[in-house]
Amino acid sequence: MTTFSTAEREVLHRVLRARRDMRHFLPEPVAPEALRRILEAAHSAPSVGYMQPWRFIRITDMRLRAELHDHVAEEQRRTAEACGARAAEVQRLKLEGLRDCSELIAVTLCDGRERYVLGRRTMPEMDLCSAACAIQNMWLAARAENLGMGWVSLFDPDVVGELLQMPRDARTIALLCLGPVPAFYTEPMLERAGWDCRRSLDTLISENHWPQEGAA
Ligand SMILES: Cc1cc2nc3c(=O)[nH]c(=O)nc-3n(C[C@H](O)[C@H](O)[C@H](O)COP(=O)(O)O)c2cc1C
Repeated sequence: MTTFSTAEREVLHRVLRARRDMRHFLPEPVAPEALRRILEAAHSAPSVGYMQPWRFIRITDMRLRAELHDHVAEEQRRTAEACGARAAEVQRLKLEGLRDCSELIAVTLCDGRERYVLGRRTMPEMDLCSAACAIQNMWLAARAENLGMGWVSLFDPDVVGELLQMPRDARTIALLCLGPVPAFYTEPMLERAGWDCRRSLDTLISENHWPQEGAA
């Protein structure tokens, strides 16, 4: 059995704390061995019924990347409109680094997912949760390589599915921007931009039942 020392545990927690969603990148390549380690981290994630629903599409065609960027920019405009009073604020936020990152990876859920029933009979969305675990592994593995990663979800999966020539029942859940960064943000960018702040952990934990109104 592998056991970990205190120092090793502390390193893990340093990586967890230092991970950020990144949207600013340097025009420098990612070493192929580092990219492989990051994808291996993804593929070691847990998955419902051992389904391994994740698929990775590395986008190297710059025209395709530009098309994805334009679609995401349009979706940000639509999202801003949908945010009502905060529309102008949303439009100003930097929510992607698609044009600047050195690697762009689409993470998709595989096709034929209805065949996987174990753990998904009442909650079919557990496939999505599994792929999210894989993405979190990538985020942490990238940070340990001193590379930044940003999860972009501002897109219509049907439009991206067409651009990536995917089967109709496969579904993209993330466009991941990956690469060297000028500096890691010290706090979430949305916090710095005044969009929201981190809640106190103690307000999110309760015992035995949902927290009751007015309880101390
Ligand atoms: C499922 C998911 C989708 C996200 N989509 C986007 C996105 O489209 N654009 C973006 O800028 N950040 C996106 N983020 C990043 C969040 O904004 C970010 O995680 C949050 O603000 C906290 O910042 P931190 O990751 O640096 O701690 C996404 C994060 C998750 C988990």
